[in-house]
Amino acid sequence: MAIRNIREYGDEVLTKKCKEVTEMTPRVRDLIEDMLETMYEANGVGLAAPQVGILKRIVVIDVTGEDPHILINPRIVEMSGEQTGQEGCLSVPGKSGIVTRPNYVKAVAMDVNMKPIELEGTELLARAICHELDHLDGHLYVEKVEGGLQDVTYDDEEEE
Ligand code: NI
Repeated sequence: MAIRNIREYGDEVLTKKCKEVTEMTPRVRDLIEDMLETMYEANGVGLAAPQVGILKRIVVIDVTGEDPHILINPRIVEMSGEQTGQEGCLSVPGKSGIVTRPNYVKAVAMDVNMKPIELEGTELLARAICHELDHLDGHLYVEKVEGGLQDVTYDDEEEE
């Protein structure tokens, strides 16, 4: 496993649409392991493959630090409600902003064995699912921020 370099806002790779994963290979497994390690090392709650420069539809999410979710080719199939709150991104270091997201989300995806899975979440998990899936289509939360980006201190920040 290895820590990968996190691409930052302004890097073109973050604006691209990612491609579906068609088969699990040792290379893709390594990528997923590295994404988890990179996310934990950066104290993030989520990371999408384009953030490490790989245009594949893969995200990792862990909002508690003890419950990693790996989603391959994820798609949101249900959402409801609304939440408005602070959001950050490992690709936009030192910043946060207010974003409105659904309060409940259900996603379908493949796991590391390319078996279909479902992930349901509310509150922070729902927010993280939406945020990470946006990355796969080249979108950053900064496009959705209400009232502009703010500077934040690092120690009390959760970044996605
Ligand atoms: Ni992000």
